[in-house]
Parts: sequence; C-alpha cells; structure tokens
Amino acid sequence: MNFDVAWVRAQFPSLRRHHNGHPVIYLDGPGGTQIPQRVADRVRDHMLHHFANVSGVYATSQETDAVMTEAREAFAALFGCGADEVAFGANATSLFYKLAWAFVKEIKPGDEVLVTDVDHEANRGAWMVLAEHGAVIKSVKLDKTNMCIDIEDFRAQLNSRTKLVAINHASNAVGTIHDVKAMVSMVKELTDGAYTVIDAVHSVLHMPLDVKDIGCDFLGTSTYKFYGPHLGVMYCRKELLSVLRTDPLITQKQEAPFKLEMGTQNHEHIAGAAETVHFIAEIGRRHEAQYGHLASGLSGLRRDLVIALLAMQEYEHELCEMLIAGLKKIKGIKVWGPPAGQPRTSTVAITLNKLDAKGFAEYLAERGIFLMYGHFYALRLIEELGLMDRGGVVRLGLVHFHTRKDVERILDVIEEIATVVG
Ligand SMILES: Cc1ncc(COP(=O)(O)O)c(C=O)c1O
Repeated sequence: MNFDVAWVRAQFPSLRRHHNGHPVIYLDGPGGTQIPQRVADRVRDHMLHHFANVSGVYATSQETDAVMTEAREAFAALFGCGADEVAFGANATSLFYKLAWAFVKEIKPGDEVLVTDVDHEANRGAWMVLAEHGAVIKSVKLDKTNMCIDIEDFRAQLNSRTKLVAINHASNAVGTIHDVKAMVSMVKELTDGAYTVIDAVHSVLHMPLDVKDIGCDFLGTSTYKFYGPHLGVMYCRKELLSVLRTDPLITQKQEAPFKLEMGTQNHEHIAGAAETVHFIAEIGRRHEAQYGHLASGLSGLRRDLVIALLAMQEYEHELCEMLIAGLKKIKGIKVWGPPAGQPRTSTVAITLNKLDAKGFAEYLAERGIFLMYGHFYALRLIEELGLMDRGGVVRLGLVHFHTRKDVERILDVIEEIATVVG
C-alpha cells in the first residue's frame, strides 16, 4: 500500500478518542465522516474574525465574499465544472427539494418522472412533489443479482413522456456504484431531452468525478460525507439553471448559481467546506509521485484532487477486500452488496444470523466500533431485500483514515459476537 495513512490520521483529532478502554474506530463515514483539524480551525476562524454578511463595502464583508468565491472555485475543481455552476444549501435533501419546486413549472400532467428503488429517500421524496402537479412517478427496480439499479428496467421505462430522471451514483446502504455516464447517455438517446439529476452524496468521497463527462444536468452532494461541515452543494448546468424558474426573491441575484440558493448562506460552513477541498488536495500533492501519471493533462487544484481521490480509492479498496474476505469466513455473517469484481465503494452492509441489526450495532458500539444500523433512508432497497423486520443491516463504512489494524480488530470483534450468539 502506497498510501500515507499515518499523515492522514494525524490530521483528525477525533481518532485519538477511546471508549470503554478501546480506541474508537469510526465506521459511520456514510452517515458523516470525521473532521480534520484544519477544517474546524477554518470554521472557527471565519466565525471569530470574518463574520459578516456578503456584498458590503467593509473588510469582513469583502472577506466573506472572497470565501464564497473561493468555495465555488474549490467545488468547481472537485466536480470538473465552472465556479458559476456551484450552488450551496443546507444539505443535499433541501437542494433536491428546491429543484423539484422549480420543475413543478416545467411538468405537465401525464409527464413521467423516473426515480429508483436504490436511491436514498432524498432523491425520491423530493420528486414526489411533482405527482401533485400531474406527473406520473415511476420507480426503477433493484437488480438483486448485483445490488444495482436494474438497467434493463431503466431502459424500458425511458420514453418520450419521460421529463426528469433522478438516479443514484453510489448506494449509501450497500456500496454499489452505478455507471451514471452510461445511464445519462441512455436518457439522451431514449427521451426527448429529459432532465437528469444525480445523487452523488455517497460517491464524492470515493472516486474522482467529472460532471461534464457524465453529462448530467444536476448533481447533489453533502460535504459532511467527505470530511467537511454540514452543508449541501450542487452542480447545476448553467444553461439549464439560467432558464429554470426557481423563484428567487426579487432582491436576490437572479442568475445561476445564486438563483438556486435561499437566503443568507452558512458562510462559516462554506469556509470549512472550501478548506476540506484543500485538505483533500494536499493528500493529492503528497501522492503525486505514485499517482501523478494517472492525472496527465490535468493541472492545479483539479489535478491534486483527482490524484488524491485515486490514491484514497485504491487504499480503501484494498482495506475493503480484506474486510469482505474476513467477513465471509465468519459463520452467521451475510454480506449484502455487489458481487466480487463489480465497482463498489468501501461501504459494506452485513447481517448476523440470530441477532437483529440494533443488537449487533450495540455490541460493536460498546467495544468502540461506532457505526450505524437500519435502512439509512435507502428505505426501498432495504425493504426489497426483505430486511426491515430484522432492523435493516449493519453498515461498515471504511474510509481513507482506517488501517489494516482497524480491519483486523473489526473482524475480531464481529467473530466474537458471532460466536456468542451461535
Ligand atoms: C446517498 C445519499 N443521498 C442523500 C442523502 C441526504 O443527504 P443530506 O443529509 O445532506 O440531505 C444521504 C445522507 O445520508 C445519502 O447518503
């Protein structure tokens, strides 16, 4: 492994915590990762020294304006888009809802809206708003053989009545990754220009992203899933957002990306989110020698970010393979996820025979392994798998600050509880 995990771990004060005498292993990354010192420092610094509203003539207001510009540029580098295509909001869910209210004006009775059974409710519930305005909402099935959106069902449901398609990039419950570029191409080929919205909340941390290459209209994510503060960010294709009727206040800037934002923004968290992007970029600079050749043609911040994400992805993948191989040897454990060899994130869902998910998670929590159980709002998927009556699954979210030693300890503790319950 070429990854400098020792340096990474030193950036996260929370990793020094112990619980009941055990070093804590934070495995709820898909619910929210931990925060590097410099991100927390940046939030604090903004609040203590630059706190102001935007667009004023005084220094701290101009510093806040500069933070907003810096953050839009940072996320443009992360997404591969223009800075004027980056909008902020409270979280991903509220950005999807804000978009849905704008699409209400584009939808006519009988238009079809496609969602999926794999998605988090954020990228389903928001679009249900359109049903009240005459849209027919259709949901694409889960393919249980690979834990992905059923691609044949997806293709079959696209037609000239399809107006909007909301799809998942990576499953926050079972870790499958979807080929969203191919799916967006299918939408372009089989519909009369349906809009495409991608939920990338779970994917951004685990792979480099290029929204122009994917070809989608909107892509939403949340920075607290990749070492940042609680904040939503959305890529919005400028030509489309410019004409979309988002109903900004008459006192607000009427152009993209501002017209998707509501009221005063969370400037301190936006400062922290920009810092998060710089933190990830630093990982890229530290791994330039090993991974630089994979980012040929790229320069500046975007290059550093792509290198970082490739390095993190490879490292997480190795840990994930070790985890899954170990889990498969433990009697009574079932791993719910994509088959070996299929693209996936390092998020692994498991169940244990004879113990419900809550009891299983409690046992691990007492031993300093902090993780989540349940459906994680990927409700349809967990229902489809028939796991609701046993409390859903236990989710192990490996990220770039975990180590092989962590994986060994996770496996030991799981083996222990599996033996106890028999
Ligand atoms: C895949 C996915 N989509 C959407 C969301 C909702 O994000 P937010 O809490 O920022 O609204 C989550 C949160 O867990 C998620 O994992």
